[in-house]
Formats: sequence, C-alpha cells, structure tokens
Amino acid sequence: MKNNHKNILVTGGAGYIGSHIVENLVKTKNKVIILDNLVTGYKRLINKKAKFIQGDIKKKRELIKIIKNNNINSIIHLAAYLNVSEAEKNKKKYYNNNVIGTKNLIEACKNSSVKNIIFSSSCAVYGNVKGAVSEYKKPDPGGYYGYTKFKGEELLKKFEKKYNYNFGILRYFNVAGASPSGKIGEIETSHGHLIKNLAIQSLKKNSKVKIFGNNYKTKDGTCIRDYIHVTDLADIHIKGLDYLKKNKKSFILNCGYGKGYSVEQIVNIFKRIKKNVSVVYLNRRPGDIAQVYSNTKKFKKLLNWKPRHNNIKKIILSAINWEKKINKNY
Ligand SMILES: NC(=O)c1ccc[n+]([C@@H]2O[C@H](COP(=O)([O-])OP(=O)(O)OC[C@H]3O[C@@H](n4cnc5c(N)ncnc54)[C@H](O)[C@@H]3O)[C@@H](O)[C@H]2O)c1
Repeated sequence: MKNNHKNILVTGGAGYIGSHIVENLVKTKNKVIILDNLVTGYKRLINKKAKFIQGDIKKKRELIKIIKNNNINSIIHLAAYLNVSEAEKNKKKYYNNNVIGTKNLIEACKNSSVKNIIFSSSCAVYGNVKGAVSEYKKPDPGGYYGYTKFKGEELLKKFEKKYNYNFGILRYFNVAGASPSGKIGEIETSHGHLIKNLAIQSLKKNSKVKIFGNNYKTKDGTCIRDYIHVTDLADIHIKGLDYLKKNKKSFILNCGYGKGYSVEQIVNIFKRIKKNVSVVYLNRRPGDIAQVYSNTKKFKKLLNWKPRHNNIKKIILSAINWEKKINKNY
C-alpha cells in the first residue's frame, strides 16, 4: 500500500500544542481530522479548516470507526493528561487516559490504513539527568506522568510490526509561547507551566511569581528545563511525518533547543520585562525532577532542520502577548 499521510488524525488537536500542529497541517494538502474530548482543550483552538470530532481515546470502538470512516493514514497522538503533580496523586486517572488510551488508539490501527504514528512523549521519561541528555540514554522516569509516557512509547514499539506502521516518538522538553498568527496559544491554566504562569502574572499590577523548590542540586537550587517554542515544535511534527513517509523508518527524537534555564533565570528575564514582581519560594512539587535539557545532535542530523524561534525572551513575550489577547476577547 502506498505510504502517504493524506488523512491525518490529530488526537488532542483542540489543545495547546495540537492546535499549533493543526495550524501548520491545514496549510498542506492533507485532510486533518481532530479528535478531542475537550477536557483541557478549547473550541476556540479548533481550526475551522479541520474536521472536528468530539470523542475520547478511552473508547476503542469509537476509534476504530473514526479511523475506518475517515481512511486515516497518519496519526499524531497528543491526547493525554499532563499535570506532573496531579499524576502522583491520581495514578489511576493518568494510567487510564495516557496508557490505556494510547493502547486503544494503537489497537484501533489493526487492519487499518494507518501507516504512520507520531507520539507526544516527554523529556519526563528520562528522569533526573546530568548534562545534556541524548535519545540513547535509557529512560528512567522520575515521576508517574513520565512513566505513563514511557509506557506509551513501549506500546508503540511493541505493535509496530504486528500492525504494520512506523512511529516517530517525539520527546518534548518544555513547550512555551504562542503562534505568530495571534490566533492560538495556551489557554488551559491547570498544567502548572512556568511561562504560562508568568504570562498570567504579567497582566497584574503587582505580579507574584511562585518558585517550587530552591534546594535542588542545581546551580541556583531551582529546577532546570529546556524551553522550546510551540511553533518550532509544530514544524518538527510536519518534518517528522515527511521523514516517516520517505524513509519508512521509526525514530525517537528529543525536541528541545539544547539549553537549560533554571526557573530563577527565567524569572529574572521576566523581571526585566515586567516591573513590580515579587517572588515566593515554596516547597518542591511532587513529581518534578531537578534538571533536564536536550542533546540536539540526533535531531539536527535526522530532520536537517533549524529552529526559528529559539530566543527565550521572545518566547516569554509571545506568551505574554497571547495572554493579553485572551484576556481582552475571551
Ligand atoms: N506542554 C508541554 O510542555 C509538554 C511537554 C511534554 C509533553 N507534552 C505532551 O504534549 C501533549 C499535548 O499537551 P498540551 O500541552 O497541548 O496540553 P493540552 O491539555 O492543551 O492538550 C491535550 C489535549 O488532549 C485532550 N484530551 C485529553 N484526554 C483526552 C481523551 N481521553 N480523549 C480525547 N482527548 C483528550 C484535551 O482535551 C486537550 O485538548 C500531551 O500528550 C503532553 O503529555 C506536553
């Protein structure tokens, strides 16, 4: 069978990252179908050029029908829960959605036209690491959220031959910023994302920024992360699908810029943008790892692609501009 990706199913396409991927995909000749239960997704983020199905990856029979009726060739699977602290407290909820949901989706590909699957994994699969982490490092998730993502990866590998597809596992580092189109960005506030929180605080007269933990074994005691602009990340998905189509070979890739910033450093950059910022130091959040940033060697080689938005100040500013926009019109 010809390996094209004409009809693309995006699970979680009404969410933050999914909507940015869809924004790129609808510019290509592909037909885009979004599947989302809107648990943390938003109608406002649904691209009008895509077909929207309100549904749940926990329902396997529905998935089988959707894949068959829409003759799906490729899937980009983002639907998941992603709050690291909540995952520690409510493991079952996370297992059912992130692991069983992913298993359902894979099993629904049996005897179907699906040839390519891109999976949203996370740097959380590595756990706590020293120095830039490469894809060759054996995963050792520090928290339960990372564990569910690692399980998803294993399932993809397990069924690859049996169901005859290739996969691209994308291990996102910390995603931030908003589309230059001004139409989409992060709305959901429950994930505890630092830059989203700073953007919210930027609109307040007296901003109050919370730092969770300042006694980690890092240069200034706060957690270190690698921040990637959501538009660059969306581009990687398009490139990744092209790679699968051309090479028919599965891959695992880190998606970060290769630079680690501590929370304190990010807050200091924010303080240069916004006056009257007070900082509160709180206890560590359960599930947080001390430090993780990407080795970008494989990424550059495999996709032959360069980031366009890798400027941390601009990433923060883009999140702030989006926040202003949703507070005006929403
Ligand atoms: N944001 C980050 O920094 C980051 C980092 C690493 C990995 N990821 C992964 O990227 C993916 C997308 O994250 P996001 O930041 O866009 O979050 P998000 O909450 O905006 O997107 C997730 C989407 O999935 C949908 N969803 C959840 N469970 C579902 C289900 N059972 N059935 C159908 N739809 C469901 C939600 O409604 C939402 O629209 C997730 O898989 C997440 O684990 C995100």
